[in-house]
Amino acid sequence: MQEINFAARRKRLMQWMGPNSIAILPAASEKVRSRDVNFHFRQDSDFWYLTGFNEPESVVVLIPGRKHGEFILFNREKDELHETWHGKRLGQEGALQTLGADDAFPITDIDDILPGLMEGKERIYFELGVNPDFDQQILEWRNQLNKAQNKSQIRPGEMIDLKHHLHEMRLIKTQAEIQRMRYAANASAKAHIALIKACKPGKNEQDMEAELQYHYVLNGCRYAAYPSIVAAGDNANILHYVENDSEMLDGDLLLTDAGCEFEYYAADISRTIPINGKFSEPQAQLYDLVLKAQLAAIEMVKPGNHWNDIHDKAVEIITQGLIDLKILKGSLKQNLAKETYKEFYMHKTGHWIGLDVHDVGDYQVHGQSRLLEVGMVLTVEPGIYISKDNARVAKKWRGIGIRIEDDVAVTKSGYDILTKAVPKEREQIEALMSN
Ligand code: GLY
Ligand code: MN
Ligand code: MN
Repeated sequence: MQEINFAARRKRLMQWMGPNSIAILPAASEKVRSRDVNFHFRQDSDFWYLTGFNEPESVVVLIPGRKHGEFILFNREKDELHETWHGKRLGQEGALQTLGADDAFPITDIDDILPGLMEGKERIYFELGVNPDFDQQILEWRNQLNKAQNKSQIRPGEMIDLKHHLHEMRLIKTQAEIQRMRYAANASAKAHIALIKACKPGKNEQDMEAELQYHYVLNGCRYAAYPSIVAAGDNANILHYVENDSEMLDGDLLLTDAGCEFEYYAADISRTIPINGKFSEPQAQLYDLVLKAQLAAIEMVKPGNHWNDIHDKAVEIITQGLIDLKILKGSLKQNLAKETYKEFYMHKTGHWIGLDVHDVGDYQVHGQSRLLEVGMVLTVEPGIYISKDNARVAKKWRGIGIRIEDDVAVTKSGYDILTKAVPKEREQIEALMSN
């Protein structure tokens, strides 16, 4: 696998920042889960993107053109006692050697050192509004300059949001990033396939979640990229259902939306299968419609097409299909104009995916739906959801929720489906379940 070139990312960002500027970005914080127990620490994606450093209580500072080095890190000091209890720390020496920092200082010294690093700069770049306490802290460091004894010091006059540009960089993935996403996709695919094989009536949704977790870890991905959605029957009509504690009933469908993370890069896959191994006639009709919409939407993924083309195509096919099945009445044009499909298809057809499962990057540019470019990775995930309580449709359709989701990279010639290893044709799913 190609190495991630963190230094090249910093360099590109600093070229954009220009001279006489400073960027300041904090690491994520530890979060308490229960007394004396923290959630597993997960680094902030932007901080990781620029540093590859996986510790809390750290701040990265970038100063383009600084004589003594442009990449400065404040991080925790090595501490034998703490390390015995809680694990290794990189320390300052490690930051220089492992991360390639030009300077590294103990985080406890930041109040003394950072104002001096701001001195003489015209612009401060930071992630405005993400962490209000840290925004305040930056102002305080800045205000320390120009105090009575330091009248000669020049303090930065402009405060500029770093997010937008950094997120535009993150939106376009390199080969090294796509390799990691493919790895996460393949491990997630193995987990979905194991789940499909293990599924049968009388088991619990939780049993299926166990299959996912087990196969993620077994395939080199310790963490889910988001809480698994394992939704049997009507539970599938709750889009982000995470209770995962119902018995799976004969005759119902099971919607699983789950993916794991590899070296910080996410996968996000949805499949919908018949719990007893065989789709009923109404289930098959709706399933084939969602699949038709997904395949056609994926065909819209190519450089030069608009982001919205993907959604518009899925909406058009689903709406026409619902009319053909007599779930909607009237013409395609009328239904599209009135957005009647939203009763059954209420979410967008996808999102960017990368270091975050709902990744960063604008969907619109100058008020227009964005053009797709090589290196973008997105999900394509149409669905149809008909609640068991929906008395406006014939009984046979009620309690069916279907979503089919793949992760798709934009390539020169069109697209590459990273998650294609999980079958989605009805016959393939039924064959897998019959073994
Ligand atoms: N897993 C959440 C989503 O598909 O967006
Ligand atoms: Mn999903
Ligand atoms: Mn998704």
